[in-house]
Amino acid sequence: MNFSTTAVLSGKSITDDADVARDAIRTHEVVRLSPTQTPDDLRSYYDALVEAIGTPVNIAEDYATGGAPTGERWSEIRYRSDIPDMAAFRHSKNAQPLHTDESYVSTSAGVMLFYCEAAAPAGGETTFISGARLVEFMAESEPELLERLRTIPVRFQKADDFKDRPILQTADDGSVDLNFNFFCLGADPTPEAEKLNQDFHDFLETRLPSELILPVGLAPGEGVTWRDDLVLHGRNAFQAEQTGDRTIWKTGLILPAA
Ligand SMILES: [Fe+2]
Repeated sequence: MNFSTTAVLSGKSITDDADVARDAIRTHEVVRLSPTQTPDDLRSYYDALVEAIGTPVNIAEDYATGGAPTGERWSEIRYRSDIPDMAAFRHSKNAQPLHTDESYVSTSAGVMLFYCEAAAPAGGETTFISGARLVEFMAESEPELLERLRTIPVRFQKADDFKDRPILQTADDGSVDLNFNFFCLGADPTPEAEKLNQDFHDFLETRLPSELILPVGLAPGEGVTWRDDLVLHGRNAFQAEQTGDRTIWKTGLILPAA
């Protein structure tokens, strides 16, 4: 598995574009989707594209009810001037620390997909670090923290859904399998889990070299996919004044068997 690539799409032929994107997603942790011609109707293009790539998963959550699922396919990540900045990352312009999206999702999609409707005038890049590269770096510089990531179960939870497992596991094929969101620690954690959540967050925020992190800034019409368990992702802060100055739509995707 390679870290990242760009899939150049036509923006017109769904069948061709889905084949190109699917091949890239199978072999790359992060794939920028770059249509040569911007589709007139982004929602209908990306609806058709995700249906042709695999099985889209309805991942939208209701901000107002503590993150309960809404049953909708597309989750809105839109700057909103009417919501306090610290209330929800998906409506704020703050930087968001590295995490996985499915930390509390018991039935995972595996692949996450963004498409961009409106880009911030500056900033707002989605940031990625390869899990394999992260483990390699930590084995050198943070072996004690790495060992705790592998051995201490940590529960992440939102609304009624949760997962309870070590932050870092090794998948059957030997690849890394990450599960982490500092802000979604479950209620009443063990002291070991609570300390590990804080220590890993502090490491990612203050001791991870920035050259290991790939920023991906999307223009309107572009998209990006990532393998949620193979990388951590976050977001750079951005400039925004008015609601909708930056708008991204997100869904989950299950790849068909190869
Ligand atoms: Fe995320």
